[in-house]
Amino acid sequence: MFSKELFNNKVALVTGGRSGIGYAIAKMLLQLGAKVTIASRKEAPLQKAAEELQAFGDCEYKACDIRKTEEIQALAEQIKTNHGRLDILVNNAGGQFPALAEMINDKGWNAVINNNLNGTFYMTREMGNSFFIPQKEGIIVNIIANIYRGFPGMIHTGAARAGVENMSKTIAAEWSDFNVRINCVAPGIIESSGLDGYPPPIQAMFEEAKKAIPAGRFGTVEDVANVVTFLASPLASYVNGTTLYVDGAQHLNYDIMGLPRVIRSFMNPS
Ligand SMILES: NC(=O)c1ccc[n+]([C@@H]2O[C@H](COP(=O)([O-])OP(=O)(O)OC[C@H]3O[C@@H](n4cnc5c(N)ncnc54)[C@H](OP(=O)(O)O)[C@@H]3O)[C@@H](O)[C@H]2O)c1
Repeated sequence: MFSKELFNNKVALVTGGRSGIGYAIAKMLLQLGAKVTIASRKEAPLQKAAEELQAFGDCEYKACDIRKTEEIQALAEQIKTNHGRLDILVNNAGGQFPALAEMINDKGWNAVINNNLNGTFYMTREMGNSFFIPQKEGIIVNIIANIYRGFPGMIHTGAARAGVENMSKTIAAEWSDFNVRINCVAPGIIESSGLDGYPPPIQAMFEEAKKAIPAGRFGTVEDVANVVTFLASPLASYVNGTTLYVDGAQHLNYDIMGLPRVIRSFMNPS
């Protein structure tokens, strides 16, 4: 669908690129000519993913925790040494756990905010300072979530992703002086490794939720990668500071009480 030369001579970084949505994004960028570095915490699966992705192009890896500025700076150094520049940053790394608002303690709240909001900001700031601002060129795509009607059942990630969305609007304005574009992609329920960790009652709820998705199906990792590719390409050169939902219109027609009711049923069966 896209020209195979679309990202020739472009250098990209995909956080969380070892699995699921991030892997599909890295694969698509490689297939379209980009040189891609993937980064996440667990070195062994990261290395394995990078070796697999080599089949599609020039793929490197660096273990990095997005919550640690010094590790992000080491990642920037590797990209600088190997490529001398960075053109595309995809902030995809993240994670959360289902819980009702009244049950989340400080540690759980801070863990999700630190990962999904702070980590995304640290990564964006460091890659901005290391590459995009001095280059006067750069593209950022942030993977958030369907936060259109809040996020009942995962208040921490809803708040963190809303923070990323607002941060993106600010950077779109502040860094337009440096020819930097930044946008968000909000996936609905995507069939990917990220769903595997949820307990069986929540997996069953996802199946039930499918009926309320106007598209009548879950999304695929390629559905998300296609939209990231569009936003990272010159086709989107006048798109800045916005969010594209990739959810089969679920945000317009969603039983938002499905997840909290399921959590309540197995946390407190009475
Ligand atoms: N699947 C969905 O339906 C869906 C819907 C909306 C939003 N999302 C979001 O989309 C993104 C990708 O989801 P997915 O389904 O592909 O899930 P996934 O397979 O669990 O991917 C998450 C990736 O992020 C990495 N990661 C997590 N915390 C990190 C940290 N502190 N530093 C560096 N890397 C970190 C993980 O690797 P390590 O554990 O090795 O660090 C993993 O590769 C996530 O942010 C997810 O929350 C997913």
